[in-house]
Amino acid sequence: METGLLHLHNLLRWVILVLLILSVVKAYTGSKTNRVFSPSDKKTWLFTMIAAHTTLLLGLYQWTLGRFGLFTFVKPEGVSMMKDPTLRFFQMEHPVMMILSVVFVTLGYGMAKKDVSDDIKYKKAFRYFTIALVLILIAVPWPFRQIGRPWFPGM
Ligand code: HEM
Repeated sequence: METGLLHLHNLLRWVILVLLILSVVKAYTGSKTNRVFSPSDKKTWLFTMIAAHTTLLLGLYQWTLGRFGLFTFVKPEGVSMMKDPTLRFFQMEHPVMMILSVVFVTLGYGMAKKDVSDDIKYKKAFRYFTIALVLILIAVPWPFRQIGRPWFPGM
């Protein structure tokens, strides 16, 4: 089960990225072309938020009870979390930046329900989704980084 949950967490990154890029594009083109806010826009933003929240839940599990879990990981004698790049990344940098990114995705979706003009909806959502996208791109353990993990689960 442990491995399955981690694989799902890994795989969902692609779902979030595809949906988030689509959300950014829809918000940008909506604002540029003065489009009327549509149910299709709302659905894309909603699915982006659902994917982000599901990954967040799986991440919270990894963070608390996973291999590097705050409650399960036994630090070897003399190792400091802040001085070990892998521990620092998975126990602090990755969770903090990803939680922030989910907050921005949620704010982006929130614009769909706000009682404001369509132009403001698109403009603000564009800002929130772009910040979330940048945070995710920075905080994913891409394979080419020192703390890198595979592109796809089980590779
Ligand atoms: C929401 C966007 C997120 C994305 C796209 C994402 C992506 C990833 C990826 C690709 C991995 C590597 C998985 C592997 O080794 O196969 C990973 C690992 C991990 N993530 Fe996330 N993550 C997200 C959110 C979170 C959050 C919010 C937390 C904690 C609160 C978290 C905690 C962890 C931990 C602890 C690991 C290491 C697990 C291990 O190697 O045993 N993640 N994440």
